[in-house]
Amino acid sequence: MYETRVLSGMRPTGSLHLGHYHGVLKNWIRLQAEYPCLFFVADWHALTTDYENPGDVQSSAWDMVIDWLAAGVDPGQAMLFVQSQVPEHAELHLLLSMMAPLGWLERVPTYKDQQEKLADRDLATYGFLGYPLLQSADILIYRAKYVPVGEDQVPHVEFTREVARRFNHLYGREPGYEDKAKAAVKKMGTKKARLLNELRTKFLEHGEAEALSRAQALLEEQQNLSRGDRERLYGWLEGGGKKILVEPEVLLTEAPRMPGLDGQKMSKSYGNTISLREEPDAVAKKIKTMPTDPARVKRTDRGTPEKCPVWALHLVYSDAERKQWVQKGCTTAGIGCLECKQPVIETIQAELAPIRERAQPYLDDPTLVKNIVADGCEKARRLAEETMREVREAMGLAYT
Ligand code: TRP
Ligand code: SF4
Repeated sequence: MYETRVLSGMRPTGSLHLGHYHGVLKNWIRLQAEYPCLFFVADWHALTTDYENPGDVQSSAWDMVIDWLAAGVDPGQAMLFVQSQVPEHAELHLLLSMMAPLGWLERVPTYKDQQEKLADRDLATYGFLGYPLLQSADILIYRAKYVPVGEDQVPHVEFTREVARRFNHLYGREPGYEDKAKAAVKKMGTKKARLLNELRTKFLEHGEAEALSRAQALLEEQQNLSRGDRERLYGWLEGGGKKILVEPEVLLTEAPRMPGLDGQKMSKSYGNTISLREEPDAVAKKIKTMPTDPARVKRTDRGTPEKCPVWALHLVYSDAERKQWVQKGCTTAGIGCLECKQPVIETIQAELAPIRERAQPYLDDPTLVKNIVADGCEKARRLAEETMREVREAMGLAYT
């Protein structure tokens, strides 16, 4: 019914590391070639958990966008923008808040989890309770079909689906809805109209999911319907009202858990990261000082790769042949640890070289980044406005 848009957001955390690159950014880069994509900095979301320290948000946002660009996110293909610069997100959040049941928000698992995990923060705020609803507004305002996120965000997308359904149910039933839907069916011509009616009955009365997909396909290929009629008919097929907001789906990012320098998952809070703009010397130093299997005290001690964080990096970066070389060399004391680390150092340096090179012009001239984001904001805003016009109208707020 709409073009298949992909949307994702990241809280501004400052410069990114290899974990972000392998987990998220490579996925975005793949998607931007396949779909219209919107990627944004969730700066308001950062404030929901850290309202006392607003000072870092902006510089973290710029650093993060530079890393997106350096990693290969292409502003020619994807829209890159900042949430707070598209204030329509806040308007939709407000309007959704009128009908979002308090119980739904309190039951989102991250609500209690985060309050326990971030015990030093004040999360007993209105803003934090509304975190998932703000995220729903982010998604729904672009009628995004796919939301690439990690496991931890799945409940938020599920919640968004429920909000969309409730909104459509409440506000999709405009006066004279049934008649308008029937008039729209007629516009399809007698034959197709009859087929559509049959398929709808099969779905509504006999629960045939197959019939519903066939009916949807029929609508999809129908050229002469207005957007309003299309929304009416999509909803009407399922026995509901107009489908003003689109229920999104998660595109699960299989985070190939990037191991950090200490074998734990790479994460800023563990201090075990290699950043995307790390200089080659710093990469070498960080890897050379990594702990290895504690059993290998002397060069002649045999080791067990499975007990070594360096092996975890070989699993990410090395081909079968090199992995075999490590296994054999480590377990027979045939190679030393520094020798074993060397190819990892070189592979990471080679991976980061083009990233650092692409970052440089943006570091030299910050207006380049600002212009890219301004352009992305403008494009995103146009899409957001389209949805908002319909939302306002559906909620009786179209004054002009
Ligand atoms: N909550 C997300 C996170 O912490 C960030 C986010 C905000 C987001 N709005 C979004 C992700 C909309 C996807 C879609 O990672
Ligand atoms: Fe780890 Fe390699 Fe040393 Fe074995 S040889 S302990 S895998 S660094």
